[in-house]
Amino acid sequence: MSARILDGQALAGRLREEITPQVAEFARRHGRPPGLAIVLVGQNAASEIYVRNKLKAGRDVGFRPDLERLPETASLADLLALVARLNGSAVHDGILVQSPLPKGLGGDAASRVFDAIAPEKDVDGFTPGNVGRLVQGRPTLVPCTPLGIIELLTREGIPVAGRRACIIGRSEIVGKPMALLLLQRDATVTICHSKTPDLAAVCREADILVAATGRAGLVTKAFVKPGATVVDVGMNTITDLAVAMQWFPEGHPRLARFHERGSMLVGDVHPDVADVAGALTPVPGGVGPLTIAMLMMNTLRAARARAAT
Ligand code: GUN
Repeated sequence: MSARILDGQALAGRLREEITPQVAEFARRHGRPPGLAIVLVGQNAASEIYVRNKLKAGRDVGFRPDLERLPETASLADLLALVARLNGSAVHDGILVQSPLPKGLGGDAASRVFDAIAPEKDVDGFTPGNVGRLVQGRPTLVPCTPLGIIELLTREGIPVAGRRACIIGRSEIVGKPMALLLLQRDATVTICHSKTPDLAAVCREADILVAATGRAGLVTKAFVKPGATVVDVGMNTITDLAVAMQWFPEGHPRLARFHERGSMLVGDVHPDVADVAGALTPVPGGVGPLTIAMLMMNTLRAARARAAT
C-alpha cells in the first residue's frame, strides 16, 4: 500500500482563496483591513522564516500585517509594554508573539507574555482564558496547528467520531489542544510522551496518529496500524549527509536538493511509513502551511468579533 498524501499546501491555497473576499468585505464595511501584529524578539533563524511566511500570508489575503521587532537585549518589561500598547491599538485585531523567546528573558517569560495578551486578540489561542474555554468546549480562538489539522481531516473526509486517536507530544501549542479538539469530535484519545512505555504499541492502536515530538523520524512503520491516517507536525532540520541518506535513497530528488543546500527539512515521521499508512501529511507541505492559513482565519474571526462589540 502507498499512503494517500494529504496536501496541506493545496488546502492552504484554497483556504486563502476563501478568506480573501471575506477580508475585502470586512475592509469595505469597517473602512480598514483586519490588523495582525507579529512580535519577534531577538535573533532566531527559524523564527525569522516562520514570521516572514506569516507576514506574507497576511499581506496576500489583504490584512494589515505589522512586524514589531525587539532586540535580543530587550527586557521582559519592554516586551510587556509592547504587548500592552498592541492590546490598546484600534487597528490591531490579532497579536502573535513568536516563540521561542530569548533565554535571557527568563524561564517564565513566555507564560507571562502570553498571559498579558488581550484574550480577544489572542490569535494563537494561548491565553489561559481561551485555553479554559477550549477545555469546556465553548467558542474561542483555538491554537492554529491543531485547528489546521482538524480542517484537513474534515475536508479530506477522514472520520474522527468513534475512532482511536493517538497524539505523541503534550505541548500547549499542539499536543494538548489537539487532544481536546479530537475529543470534542468524539474520538477516543490517547496522549503519549517521552515517558510512555512501549510507545510503538500504543501508537499502533490508532486510526489517527499525530506526531508532534520534534524528533526526526521517531515514527517508523512499527508505530502505524495499516490504513491509519498519520499527521506529521515535526519540522526538523537535518544537516548531516549520513543522516539524510537514512531518509532518502541516492538519486531521490530530496537528496539531490540536500546536496545543493546542505540541509533538509524533515518531519517526525519516516517516509517509509507511507508503505503502511492509509493517508499521510508530507513535510514540508503538510501541516506547516495550514498553521499559517488558520492564523489568517483566527485573525479575521478576532477582527469580526471586535468590530461587532
Ligand atoms: N513558534 C512555533 N510555533 C508557534 C506558534 O504557533 N505561535 C507562536 N506564537 N510561536 C510559535
